[in-house]
Amino acid sequence: MNNQDLVTEIRQKIDIVDLISEYIPLIQKGKNYFGVCPFHNDTNPSMSVSREKQIYKCFSCGASGNVFTFLMDYDHIDFKEAIKILGEKAGVEVKGIKLNPKTTKFDRFYEMYDIANKYYQNNLNSKEGLLAKKYLSSRKIDDDLIKEFGIGLSLDKSNAVTTILTSKDYSMKEIEQFGLASNNHDIYINRIMFPLHDISGHIVGFSGRIYDDSDKNKYMNTKETIIFKKGECLYNYHIARDYCRKLKFVIIVEGFMDAIRLSQIGYKNVIALMGTAMTEEQIQLIKKLSNNVYLSLDGDEAGQRATLTNGEQLVKQGLNVKVIGLPHDKKEHDPDEYIIKYGKDSYTNLIESALNYSDFKINFLKIGVNFNSDLELSTYIDSVIKEVSTIKDEIRREIILKKLAIEVNLSYNTLEKRLNEYLEFQKVVNVEETAKPKVDVPKKKVSKYEKAAYFLIYGMVNDGQVIKLVEKEDVHFPTKELRYLASEICYYYHKYGSITMADFYTYLNDKEELLVVYNYIMSFQYNDEINYKAIDDYIGVIREYNLRQEIKRLSDLVKKENDPIEKAKIAEKIRLLKIGE
Ligand code: CTP
Ligand code: MN
Repeated sequence: MNNQDLVTEIRQKIDIVDLISEYIPLIQKGKNYFGVCPFHNDTNPSMSVSREKQIYKCFSCGASGNVFTFLMDYDHIDFKEAIKILGEKAGVEVKGIKLNPKTTKFDRFYEMYDIANKYYQNNLNSKEGLLAKKYLSSRKIDDDLIKEFGIGLSLDKSNAVTTILTSKDYSMKEIEQFGLASNNHDIYINRIMFPLHDISGHIVGFSGRIYDDSDKNKYMNTKETIIFKKGECLYNYHIARDYCRKLKFVIIVEGFMDAIRLSQIGYKNVIALMGTAMTEEQIQLIKKLSNNVYLSLDGDEAGQRATLTNGEQLVKQGLNVKVIGLPHDKKEHDPDEYIIKYGKDSYTNLIESALNYSDFKINFLKIGVNFNSDLELSTYIDSVIKEVSTIKDEIRREIILKKLAIEVNLSYNTLEKRLNEYLEFQKVVNVEETAKPKVDVPKKKVSKYEKAAYFLIYGMVNDGQVIKLVEKEDVHFPTKELRYLASEICYYYHKYGSITMADFYTYLNDKEELLVVYNYIMSFQYNDEINYKAIDDYIGVIREYNLRQEIKRLSDLVKKENDPIEKAKIAEKIRLLKIGE
């Protein structure tokens, strides 16, 4: 079986509606399914998915493709990885598949971190690692967790990892450039080493933790490099991805000790922020994990403030945010400590009783408010109403408002009036926001010849009969790209005996320029039924276009020609062509 056949087999076994539903909720409307497009900042469902054609298409940003392209773009993985994942899902053996391995100019540095990581892991098992091991065990990090998270130890020597790496032909300059050395010495000295991964799972840096009081700086992270951007890093993301999809929620914690602990008790759908404020890039990455986000940050004041600001940002992105609260009397804990003390079941109870973000916020707003001060009270009331106005569920709105009315001893009507003012205001804001297009929508104004060409191409990838017609009539498409695309479609059809839109996407995978043209063509609306009369008309339109082009070319020639005999010959040609026209 060749690669294309294998890929086609996988594609046929994975239904695109089922696959995409695992990532974004889809709603059926007529024959197609619609969802919020994950490839641009979408708020309305503008992505349509066709079960019949096995393709998706976004009417807003123009993204389109099949099951493979969806997975590749969604998860930032390459074609090979997509084949592996979907092959497994489809129960198709993909071992024999030959694809050019995707090499990147960073492979050498990924490898450098791998070498360093193996070395650090080894150290932990040597006798120099005894103390660190003891520390880890006191933190209830057992051998299984050490292995799972690739935890290691940098030695108390100034030229340990640098010696290893230079012996493997890395220059000191490279080692410094990638943050493992400075001034010809190891940067990490006597620290417990946690490898940090990018979203594809490459090690791209380390975080080194002290395990005695040798240094005030508890964690030391690798500096930013071309492959390690702190603002794009989320601890455990590459592992959590699959679990979030299955479990349909993600838990966000602050520290990686928390992430490791949650993972140990079975919540492998966990990621850690690593102590920084959440960036726009991180939010976009979180959005790809799940629509349901549980914030499980530390119980201290800083953790609660972070819950408020992070929650706000996530809610703005349309995510369902819940807050896992650590009980008040146990406030000093982070999830790691909490679980060690009270166990898995107790934490599971906390998840089950997590608050909606807005309820959390309303509770939070109340903290420290002096109800005897008119100013503080009215500010508090206003901020609660403002929060209520963001809640879509009218029943919840009313419940909260009724409680508030009793709490502050005001009439429900007064509060409702204020709420309505906020709701009006939000409508205005929403209209303004949706009015701004955030991406380049393909320009849909095209000439009638282009339109004819696009319809023909569309017909060709849907129906072999159209290919035969185009070949029989020897259609000469108006642009070089279209001619190239058409010839590839014909080639594919004859080679594999049939063609579908969905499979042709795969074929174009490594033909970047053609894929752009194809995507553009697919961004137009077409009738589902192929109508041969219309196909005939389109061929006619293109023929007319070619004729005009030829007449134009000859007319230009006539003007330039000096020889009267030649001139007459060309003029005659033009005359004949015009009769044909
Ligand atoms: N952090 C950091 N530098 C520090 C302190 C914290 O980079 N000096 C980051 C780490 O990624 C850490 C996260 O912030 O995981 C949260 O900090 P904290 O809650 O103090 O860390 P824990 O993971 O809970 O670690 P530990 O329990 O070992 O203190
Ligand atoms: Mn901690």
